Amino acid sequence: SKPRILVARAIFPDIVERLRQHFEVQDNPEDVIWTPAELAERLADKDGAFTTGSQRIDAALLAAAPGLRIVANMAVGYNNFDVDAMTAAGVQGTNTPDVLTETTADFGFALLMATARRMTESEHYLRAGQWTKWSYDMFSGSDIHGSTLGIIGMGRIGQGIARRGAHGFGMNVIYHNRSRLSPELEAECKARYVGKEELLRTADHVVLVVPYTPASHHTIGAAELALMKPTATLVNIARGGIVDDAALAVALREQRIAAAGLDVFEGEPSVHPDLLTVPNVVLTPHIASATVPTRRAMANLAADNLIAFFEQGAPLTPVNTPEPRAR
Ligand code: GLV
Ligand code: GLV
Repeated sequence: SKPRILVARAIFPDIVERLRQHFEVQDNPEDVIWTPAELAERLADKDGAFTTGSQRIDAALLAAAPGLRIVANMAVGYNNFDVDAMTAAGVQGTNTPDVLTETTADFGFALLMATARRMTESEHYLRAGQWTKWSYDMFSGSDIHGSTLGIIGMGRIGQGIARRGAHGFGMNVIYHNRSRLSPELEAECKARYVGKEELLRTADHVVLVVPYTPASHHTIGAAELALMKPTATLVNIARGGIVDDAALAVALREQRIAAAGLDVFEGEPSVHPDLLTVPNVVLTPHIASATVPTRRAMANLAADNLIAFFEQGAPLTPVNTPEPRAR
């Protein structure tokens, strides 16, 4: 009989149909947000799961799903996985790298430009009927071209943003990362490695693209915001929790930095109420990878991981090497 798969959220119906050619599929076309207990109940008899990045896969859930062998996340980030618990339980995890890199880098750049040039703040002013006359200083922002771009997290997406900045906008690119890029990649991205403190002190624009881990929790908090230039902008397209949103709201309100662009939030889809009331922030609902071709590519790669795992014995883009498990 076919392996049994749970698709935890609504996804492209034709991709669910593709999964049905290989698996016995329980899906969620109504897109109900299941509680952890409801998810565990549905996984109790499953061999595999298709998740979208917000379902927590931890030891308690794995204990309730004794037959589970693989969880395919439709996201490059997989901080919803307790990877150690999955590895110990013999459960394969997979993500969707590469297919979203350029689309997400495009969005990071769009959010940077919208933030530095105050595009949404000025649009709200116009829509509210407040534009009665032009003035020489209205909505003056900060320049992108020729400025210093500081990138924290120089994975594939960070490199894509560096290339856009250096080659497209003549930016001086500096970066901080756990490890340095090769000299070849540094030359290609025209990016110079610096310490985190130097980056925060000297960048005109700071873009965050680090994966969320306990070590990257609050990479930017009150102390880091205090190092930044009062004219600087901050962009977070990484994960909620990389920035201390409460501290950021204070810094924005007191204009200790000029502006922020946020696509991800601590506790999303809830947003810190103070961020909703400060004017100098651009807010988007976790859409950095949202183009039709890219979201389809992500869903297809997650599906391909399930198919390759059960039919060829190995997934395409694993995030762990599970322990052999007698189950
Ligand atoms: C989205 O945030 C992703 O990790 O792909
Ligand atoms: C994320 O890890 C990336 O690809 O930059």
